[in-house]
Amino acid sequence: MEAYDFLVIGSGSAGLTFALEACAHGTVALVTKKERTDSNTNWAQGGIAGVLGPDDTPDLHVGDTLIAGAGLCDEQAVRTLVEEGPAAIRRLMTFGASFTVDSEGGLSLGREGGHSRRRIVRHADRTGREVERSLVDEARRRPNIHVLEHHNAIDLITLPTSGGLPVCAGAYVLDERSGRVEQYAARATVLATGGCGMVYQHTTNPPIATGDGVAMAWRAGARISNMEFIQFHPTSLYAPNSRSFLISEAVRGEGGVLRRADGTAFMGEYDERKDLAPRDIVARAIDSEMKRVNTPCVYLDITHKDGEWLKDHFPTIYAHCLTFGIDITTDWIPVVPAAHYSCGGIKTDLNGRTNIDRLYACGEAACTGVHGANRLASNSLLEALVYARRSSADAVARVNEWDIIEELPEYNLAALGREGDPVSAIDLQARLQSVMQRYVGIVRSNARLQKASAAITALTGEAVGLFADGVITHDRLEARNLLQVAGLIVASAQLRHESRGLHYTTDYPEQVESEKHETLLVKEAE
Ligand code: FAD
Ligand code: SIN
Repeated sequence: MEAYDFLVIGSGSAGLTFALEACAHGTVALVTKKERTDSNTNWAQGGIAGVLGPDDTPDLHVGDTLIAGAGLCDEQAVRTLVEEGPAAIRRLMTFGASFTVDSEGGLSLGREGGHSRRRIVRHADRTGREVERSLVDEARRRPNIHVLEHHNAIDLITLPTSGGLPVCAGAYVLDERSGRVEQYAARATVLATGGCGMVYQHTTNPPIATGDGVAMAWRAGARISNMEFIQFHPTSLYAPNSRSFLISEAVRGEGGVLRRADGTAFMGEYDERKDLAPRDIVARAIDSEMKRVNTPCVYLDITHKDGEWLKDHFPTIYAHCLTFGIDITTDWIPVVPAAHYSCGGIKTDLNGRTNIDRLYACGEAACTGVHGANRLASNSLLEALVYARRSSADAVARVNEWDIIEELPEYNLAALGREGDPVSAIDLQARLQSVMQRYVGIVRSNARLQKASAAITALTGEAVGLFADGVITHDRLEARNLLQVAGLIVASAQLRHESRGLHYTTDYPEQVESEKHETLLVKEAE
C-alpha cells in the first residue's frame, strides 16, 4: 500500500493546480493514466476568460455566463468564478505562463461567442499547451509532488460509516507498466479526471477523455448532476477519416463568418448575435443547415483578414489546415460540430466537496453549478483553476482531522465482471460511440433516447465479459467507464422534459419553467 496526505487523480489544469496548492501542506501523489501532458487542457486553443480589460466588470462576465447557462447556473458559483478568476490567472503567470501581449505590453484580450467584452487571455491559439507546460514545470520544482505516469485509477476505496454515507480512503490504481493493482491510501482524494468526449464518435477531445472520474464517483455513491448537457463545439474541421480537430471559436471572435456552400452567410437567420451567438445556438444552426440540404459540412470564412495576421494569431490552425490542403488565408474552412465538453459531472459545493467524505472533485469532471445548461466559451479552464484552488484550500484546512486508513480491502477483481464471453473493448467502445452519435446528439427525441438506452443496456450486458480472462487493461477500463457515463447521459436526458441550453428535444421543443432545475442522479443502495 502507498500512503500520501493527498491523492490527486488527473494531471490537467485542475489536478496540477490542486497539487501545487496542497503540496506545501503535505505529500501529494498525482496519478495520471498516460503521460503527464495527456489532457484536454493541453489541447485548449482559445484561452481563459477573465475580467482584466478596462471596459469590463465582474457583473458583465457574470451576466454573460448566466445568459449562456439558460437559467440553470448557480449564480453564487458564477460570481465566485468571476471574482476569483483574475487572481487565478495571475497565479498561473507566477508559475511562468506567458500570454500574448499587445503593442504596449499589456495582455492582448481575445473575443469569443457569448462574451460582451474582449476578455480572453490567450497564448496565440495554443493556450492550453502553455497552461499545461507552466503547471507541469512548476510541479517538477516541488519535491512533495510525486507524479506517477501510466497509473490508471480503477475505483475509489470507500468504506461504510455509522452515519450512512461512505468515507473515501483513496483509490485502487493499475500500474500499467507492472500490471499490478495497488492501493493508494490518502487523507484526502480529488478526482480531476476531465471530460468524456470519447463517448461520441466525433469529438474534439483527446483519447484520455473517457469520463473515468464520473464513472468511479457514481460507482462509489457520489451524486452526479446535469449530464444531459453535453456541449457540441460548432466548428471542428471536416476531414473524413481523420481525428477531429478544433477550429477555435476565436476565429469567429475575430470576424469569421459561417457560410453555406453557395457563399451565403446564414447565422443572421438564426440569431441576432449572428456568428457570435452562444455555442448551443450556433451548433444547432449548423446541424439544421446540414440536414436541410443534406450536406456533410458548412464553411467558416476568415479570408477577409490579412494573411500574416492570421498566421500570427492562429499558427496551429493555419498549419493543421494546410496539411489538408486548406490555406485559411485564402480558402474557406469546412466545419462540422463535434462533442466538446461535459457541463455536468460529479456534484460539488463551492469548495469542491462531494457528498462522500474526504472526496473532492474539480475541473471538467465536476459540476459546480457554474455552467448551467451551456458553458460560455473559455470559462472551463477558468473554472478548473479557480475551483481546484478552492478545493485544495478546503482540503488543506481539514486534512489534519483525517487519519490515513491503513486497513484497506484488496481490490475485488470480481467487481469488474468476469462472467460472460470474452469481448473486445475497442469493438464495444466503437459500437457505443456510434449509438451515442446517432441517438444522443445535438437534436434528441424520446424515441432516439429510448433506442440509445436499450442499446446501452445490451452493450452493458456484453461488457460482463470484458475481464473474462482476469487481465485488467487500459482499454477495458475505459470501455467500462464509457458505458457507465453514456448511461448517465441518456438517463439524465430522459429526465428533462423540455429543451434548454444544450439539451434540445423535438418532443419538448420549448423551455418550461417547472423544469428549471438541475438533473440529479443518485445510485440506489445495493
Ligand atoms: P483534463 O485537462 O482533461 O485532465 C484530465 C486528466 O485526468 C488527464 O491527465 C488524464 O489523463 C487524467 N485521467 C483521466 N482518467 C484517469 C484515470 N482513470 N486515472 C488516472 N488519470 C486519469 N476550455 C477553455 O476554457 N478555453 C479553451 O480555449 C478551450 N479549448 C479547448 C479545446 C479543445 C480541443 C478541448 C478538447 C477542450 C478545450 N477547452 C477549453 C476545455 C478545457 O480544455 C477542459 O475543460 C479543461 O482543460 C479540463 O481540465 P481538467 O484538468 O479538468 O481535465
Ligand atoms: C475554442 O477555442 O473555441 C475553445 C474554447 C472553449 O472551449 O472554451
